[in-house]
Amino acid sequence: MRTGRPSRTALSSARARAVHQVADAPRVFTDPLAARIIGGVDGDPKPAGARGMPAEVRLFMALRHRVAEDALRAAAHTRQVVVLGAGLDTLAYRNRNPALRVFEVDHPATQTWKRERLAEAGIEVPDTVVFCPVDFTEQTAQAGLAAAGFDRHAPAFFLLLGVAPYLSKDALRDTARFVARLPAPAELVLDYNQPPATLPPHRRPALVAQAEAMARMGEPWRSYFTPTEIAGELADAGFDSVADVGWQDCLVRYALDPALPDLFGGRIAHARTTGRERS
Ligand SMILES: C[S@@+](CC[C@H](N)C(=O)[O-])C[C@H]1O[C@@H](n2cnc3c(N)ncnc32)[C@H](O)[C@@H]1O
Repeated sequence: MRTGRPSRTALSSARARAVHQVADAPRVFTDPLAARIIGGVDGDPKPAGARGMPAEVRLFMALRHRVAEDALRAAAHTRQVVVLGAGLDTLAYRNRNPALRVFEVDHPATQTWKRERLAEAGIEVPDTVVFCPVDFTEQTAQAGLAAAGFDRHAPAFFLLLGVAPYLSKDALRDTARFVARLPAPAELVLDYNQPPATLPPHRRPALVAQAEAMARMGEPWRSYFTPTEIAGELADAGFDSVADVGWQDCLVRYALDPALPDLFGGRIAHARTTGRERS
């Protein structure tokens, strides 16, 4: 990220979700605040950040939120949600459960900008939202959350969507270890990109083009994993189980056109721990 500036990729993924609401059929992820938080997409179904973004890339960005929020709904015991690298994610503002706290962890510059966006859009900030500004290059999520009142002994659900590629592998390991070693049950849903060289040749150009676009925005991708590598990382961190879904799995799960092409091989991992103290 550029020093002192909000994340530009946060805007582009928020725009992708907003455009998904009006441009994709069927819609897999419904977010009534997606357009409002970016100032609307009415009359311009392809605003700047989404221009040139292939429909399948936009669909993957919607799918990762659908997968994560479906998993969250299934985690009935959860009383704390942590949105890591929240960007303009609106889960916290759609939450109507007074017993569910939502911690938004993000770079301070992005979070300040988000709070301005929320105010400008007239989006109510429920009492259940806890803002937690953290620059992962200077502070761990663990330290930031402790300062914000996160309860280590209560079940928690973590989302890390559209963020893992921007983190170093060490930063991702730290975060995974923190979640996996919490004393209470915890779940983590994250999406990741596979190393271009491990993809079939026809998928590499879209992935490389997307990586180049992110680097031009000042937010280069730093980590790639194969499904075997991410499963190993999450197991080493201490998770008890890891489920991993790719494009074809999502097409089946959400009854989408099976012919939709997997442009760049993005995948979503869902790790769980029953929660126990480890050294
Ligand atoms: C592509 S955006 C994804 C935002 C959101 N999760 C979504 O899906 O729309 C990447 C997010 O990672 C955050 N981020 C990147 N580097 C960070 C850092 N060093 N510390 C904290 N947050 C960071 C950005 O502020 C941004 O919100």
